[in-house]
Amino acid sequence: MTRVFSGVKPTGHLTLGNYLGAMRQWAAVDQHRAESLFCIVDLHALTVDHDPARVRRLSRQAATLLLASGLDPELCTVFVQSHVDEHARLSYVLECVATDGEMRRMIQYKEKAARERARGGSVRLSLLTYPVLMAADILAYGADEVPVGDDQAQHVELTRDLAVRFNQRYGYTFTVPRATVPNVGARVMNLQEPLSKMGKSDDSGPGIVYLLDEPDVVRRKVMRAVTDSGRDVVYDREDRPGLANLLEILASCTGGNPSELSGVYESYGALKKDTAEAVVEVLRPVQERHKELCADPGYVEGVLRDGAERARAMARPTVDAAYRAIGLLPAASDTAASDTAAGDTGVVGSGVVLNAAR
Ligand code: TRP
Repeated sequence: MTRVFSGVKPTGHLTLGNYLGAMRQWAAVDQHRAESLFCIVDLHALTVDHDPARVRRLSRQAATLLLASGLDPELCTVFVQSHVDEHARLSYVLECVATDGEMRRMIQYKEKAARERARGGSVRLSLLTYPVLMAADILAYGADEVPVGDDQAQHVELTRDLAVRFNQRYGYTFTVPRATVPNVGARVMNLQEPLSKMGKSDDSGPGIVYLLDEPDVVRRKVMRAVTDSGRDVVYDREDRPGLANLLEILASCTGGNPSELSGVYESYGALKKDTAEAVVEVLRPVQERHKELCADPGYVEGVLRDGAERARAMARPTVDAAYRAIGLLPAASDTAASDTAAGDTGVVGSGVVLNAAR
């Protein structure tokens, strides 16, 4: 069965963009057709200036919202990255396969590091090595598909390179994954700056609809969305990006088609009003379920505990195999049954065969 892995970084409140572009599809499609893992990647939230209490709060909230959007722990595995040691274990090994030059070429690193330096701050080393940890997230589970926005495509490409390189050098260990881009509403743009993505980490309010925004807040943000000069409602991403964004959001919420919808409206006002209501309706069940789940924190905790246990059991054999393949001596407890006999044949307790000739 196809295996799917994706991650949500708890660096900001989840947005309508996260929901329409990713979470909704995970719940409606992926968890039913594939063996899916959805991970709150809290270690990644430590790569930039952070507030410990906030990361903890956002991690719990992200888990609750993933469940509120319909991820079903009977169908998929929802867990927190730091609960499963295998990610950090594998990340180090992959650092021994990746190169310094490769890391410094990552676009996101260059952008974020430049921004940090411009503010007079210092750049954490983990920001540089972040893509290796992301590769470990994916490779530990043998994921075939990684649904991500196109800003993450380069990181998935790196993950593929590392998997292939490791397999060539040390013997076949990792499934080589590929990025998949969600089909509809994949890219919701900021309502105030329709040329940039509605990202959660910007955390500067008016152009971003958060999943937990009250209906009136949603209405206000949509009604104040920047539109383009001009009066007629046409769907043109190049020349009318603000309007196109609204049409795409409306289409994504109602299951319609943006260019057909553009023919229905004669004024910006009417389009905004319907878009606002459509967003409110899409968020309503998620918010209701979120409220119920918040009233039962023990349930969410239990889901995360079971999820981590399942994830650990999946990742452990692959990460152990990578340790052995790269030349790390298995600990005695792993080989207790076979140590003397297997010592120099390269056969270890779990039945994994090492290539002793290398
Ligand atoms: N880097 C991703 C982001 O910023 C989050 C992430 C971490 C991720 N590990 C992952 C996504 C593994 C997919 C698979 O959005």
